[in-house]
Amino acid sequence: MDLRLQVWRQSNGATAGRFETYPAQGISPDTSFLEMLDVVNEQLTHHGVEPIAFEHDCREGICGSCGVMINGLAHGPQLGTAACQLHMRTFRDGQTLVVEPWRASGFPIIRDLVVDRSAFDRIIEAGGYVSVSTGSAPEANEIPVPKEAADTAMDAASCIGCGACVAACPNGAAQLFTAAKVAHLNLLPQGQAERWTRVVAMVDEMERYFGSCTNHGECEAACPKGISIDFIAMLNHDYIRAKVKNRRLVGQAG
Ligand code: SF4
Ligand code: FES
Repeated sequence: MDLRLQVWRQSNGATAGRFETYPAQGISPDTSFLEMLDVVNEQLTHHGVEPIAFEHDCREGICGSCGVMINGLAHGPQLGTAACQLHMRTFRDGQTLVVEPWRASGFPIIRDLVVDRSAFDRIIEAGGYVSVSTGSAPEANEIPVPKEAADTAMDAASCIGCGACVAACPNGAAQLFTAAKVAHLNLLPQGQAERWTRVVAMVDEMERYFGSCTNHGECEAACPKGISIDFIAMLNHDYIRAKVKNRRLVGQAG
């Protein structure tokens, strides 16, 4: 396949960026999108041009580092697929692909297609953990967990923290990510001890960096792991309950 890339180039967050056009020639339809960028980078390096910076690690859809906008869509046009698992056969020979970094104020640009997603780490630090001593691996049935709760927690836990939900949202909101990270702990017995402090701390931290959710639903459509916006409803439910509970506790202390 021969394609034309329009790629966002930006040296760092303090300088202006611009689109540059590069040919991507002789690309096998069976390569992944990132492998196509590898080929283009080899050609750029050969011609003395700085290679395109992009983030990647696992290249199998589990680490969440590879997100880019392709023709205006987070992770490209294939539903439920991270950019590293997107094959070039998804595109037409001769097509022009516009490749950009995530566009969100919560994800400042570091270089080219690489953005700083550490705001997600701050949200996790605020409450995305359990402080109970887990000890060694318990016997499987020692803590009874209803099947439905276990399955739903597992669905939430499949969030890879890629940030596509934020990039796709017109408000740059991080509700889907935060909701998934709250739910996978709040649904399980092990997560109950900190359930009410967790949800408030993580939502408050989220609001320091990201916009507000107005239920556009773009996040769910862009999510490579199919995380449902039902989790946002669960997040809001727990947040309101936590606020009421915490106010009662303050009243009792007074
Ligand atoms: S909710 Fe989906 S889109 Fe958002 S960070 Fe998690 S995996 Fe990525
Ligand atoms: S490189 Fe890990 S999810 Fe794409």
